Amino acid sequence: MQRLFSGIQPTGIPQLGNYLGAIRNWVALQRDHECIFCLVDMHAITTWQDPAVLRQQTLAQTAVLLASGIDVQKHILFNQSAVSAHARLGWIFNCVARIGWLNRMTQFKDKAGKDREKHSAGLYVYPDLMAADIMAYKATVVPVGDDQKQHLELTNDIAQKFNHDYGTEFFPQVEALIPPQGARVMSLRDGTKKMSKSDPSAQSRIEMTDDADAIASKIKRAKTDSEPLPSEESGLENRPEARNLVTIYATLSGRTVADVLAQFGGQGFGPFKTALSDVVVAAIDPIAKETGRLLKEPGFLCDTLRDGANRARTIAEPIVSEAESLIGFLK
Ligand code: TYM
Repeated sequence: MQRLFSGIQPTGIPQLGNYLGAIRNWVALQRDHECIFCLVDMHAITTWQDPAVLRQQTLAQTAVLLASGIDVQKHILFNQSAVSAHARLGWIFNCVARIGWLNRMTQFKDKAGKDREKHSAGLYVYPDLMAADIMAYKATVVPVGDDQKQHLELTNDIAQKFNHDYGTEFFPQVEALIPPQGARVMSLRDGTKKMSKSDPSAQSRIEMTDDADAIASKIKRAKTDSEPLPSEESGLENRPEARNLVTIYATLSGRTVADVLAQFGGQGFGPFKTALSDVVVAAIDPIAKETGRLLKEPGFLCDTLRDGANRARTIAEPIVSEAESLIGFLK
C-alpha cells in the first residue's frame, strides 16, 4: 500500500475549492492508501495569524475533516507543529534547495505581489517546508489541487539533490494526484481568481460550514454574464464565471461539463443557479451539520490531534534522524 501525505493551512474555514480539489479525494483515497493528513500551522504563520484565531481554526478544520469522512481509526490526522521532525527536515531542505529554484515559484510571486521585500522569509522558503512534510514520511502520493503542482515538482528536485549530494537513494520521488475536474475552483465574484479561504470577501467562496440559505444566497449573487448558457463546451471560452459554475455543478454531480451543458444550454442562469444550489447544499449541508456537532467537543478534537501527532512522530522521527546522520550531524 502506498503512503499518502497531504496538508491544508488552518487559516480559515475550508471552502468548496479545498473540498473539490483536495478533501473529497483524500476521503476516497483512504480506501487503498496509508494516509497522513496534516493541518499545516507552521505554513499558516508565514503570514501573521492571530494566535487565538489560529488555535480555533485548527480545531474547526479538524472538525470539518472528520465531518467530511477522514477516518482517524485507520489513518493519521495531526497538526504540523506538534511533530518537530518537520521543522528539522525543513531546515535541511532550506540548505538543499537553490535560491534560483525558489525564485521561480509562482505562488510566492502571486502572494508577495510587488512588495516582496516586506514579506516574511518563511513565505519565501514555504515550499522547502512542504517538501519536508512529505519526505519526513517518505510519502509517494500527494493529492492536491492544481495550485500545488509546482511545489511538488520542487519537492522532487529537492529529494533528488539530497540523494545526489549525499550519495544515497534515501528520499523517493512523489506523484501529484490532481483531480481531472475541480482542481481549480474559482471565486464566485471573479472567475479569473482562485476561490480562497483568505479572500477578504466571504461572498467569493462557499465555506464548508455554510447552511443551505447562505449557499443559495451566495450562488444567487455569484457573478455571471448576460448571455444564456452555451450548449457546447467551446462556448465557455472567455466566460470564466460561467465555466466555473458549470464545472462546480459537473464535479459535484459526477457528470462531464458537456453533459451539463447539453441539459442547461440555451437557458438563462436563473434555473441553472437553483439547480446548482441544490447539488452544493446536498454535498455541504451534512458536513456543515456534523462539523457544528463536533465543534461542541473541543476536548475530543484536541485528543484526536494529539493521538495523530504521536502516531505521525513514530514514522517521521526515524526517517528524519537517519537523514541527519547521512548529512553528518553527530548523534
Ligand atoms: P491550502 O491550505 O491552500 O489548500 C489545501 C488544498 O486545497 C487545494 N485548493 C484548491 N483546489 C481547487 N480549487 C481551489 N480554489 C483551491 N484552493 C485550495 C490546494 O491545492 C490544496 O491541495 N501548501 C498547501 C498545504 C501543504 C501541503 C503540504 C499540501 C503544506 N504541506 C504537503 C500537500 C503536501 C496549501 O497551502 O494548501
